[in-house]
Amino acid sequence: MKVTVVGAGNVGATCADVLAYREIANEVVLVDIKEGVAEGKALDIFQKSPITLYDTRTVGVTNDYARTAGSDVVVITSGLPRKPGMTRDDLIETNAGIVKSVTENVVKHSPEAIIIIVSNPLDVMTYQAHITSKLPRAKVMGMAGILDTARYRAFLAEELNVSPKDIQAVLMGGHGDTMVPLPRYTTVGGIPVTEMIDEEKLNAIIERTKFGGGELVKLMGTSAWYAPGAAAAQMVEAILRDQRRVFPVCIKLEGEYGIEDCYLGVPVILGKNGVEKVIELDLNDAEKELMETSRVHVREVMEVLDKLKK
Ligand code: NAI
Ligand code: 2OP
Repeated sequence: MKVTVVGAGNVGATCADVLAYREIANEVVLVDIKEGVAEGKALDIFQKSPITLYDTRTVGVTNDYARTAGSDVVVITSGLPRKPGMTRDDLIETNAGIVKSVTENVVKHSPEAIIIIVSNPLDVMTYQAHITSKLPRAKVMGMAGILDTARYRAFLAEELNVSPKDIQAVLMGGHGDTMVPLPRYTTVGGIPVTEMIDEEKLNAIIERTKFGGGELVKLMGTSAWYAPGAAAAQMVEAILRDQRRVFPVCIKLEGEYGIEDCYLGVPVILGKNGVEKVIELDLNDAEKELMETSRVHVREVMEVLDKLKK
């Protein structure tokens, strides 16, 4: 199985590394626009293989999409990251141009590939890639929900002093401050989280999660990469191994949750065909209201993109 990762920066290189050391693909092609960066990082990852013992071959190229031909999955991470004081939406103009040209090149050489978008603003970059690729919606999706849910699960594990493995949760909506955490669907080893933690502490964790990306930007001066890179690799694994994992994934909604023509994170089944099924939860009124706020926000940013003439 062959995977291309476009953008050999922090997230792209981390994703390629996870794909390699976990042997999720036989071959990983790393692409960047900066001469030598992808080549160097791919070589570095390859030179780690005799130490951590894996067979995956990593190859780096500068803008040479012919080398990506026949990829089964393509992860797009190219684009600017946030700096302190910026929102994800501030990145739209630059990143839309990058995601559009990258998607055109990807589809030209790998028409059958499933595309996973990471570049921000995530929901709207997924929109950009979907309309540019002209692929069915099941094959063009955005990674954010696994990351946002992982932050929430990690904070809960820390607070409850339990293994993060035992926290199961789902967050929906856009990748941003309007994300929709669902404590009703959060469990600790099967026990509803509300039986393990008081409301005030849970609300504080939900608020921290909503601004989890910003917390890291403030600390590091740029956005996160270890968890985002691993999250994208986890999606690739679910697809290549046809695992039918249940993950929150950004996809174009076509009537689910009463929403048309908007790209939002929802729980899906992820398998060899990409999004095999969108899972529709029976949301209560408060949850529906949060989802609507998220929809309105993402639609606004989609309209900004429409005005930029895609
Ligand atoms: P980075 O700056 O470390 O890497 C971006 C790479 O993209 C650079 O190496 C750059 O040369 C490359 N690039 C730019 N234009 C290109 C083009 N046309 N073709 C190929 N490569 C190109 O940034 P980082 O931290 O890796 O973040 C990448 C993107 O992912 C950002 O937009 C960031 O906001 C987003 N992100 C999204 C997350 C999510 O949950 N969806 C989480 C973390 C980051
Ligand atoms: C994050 O949430 C910046 O979207 C990126 O870390």
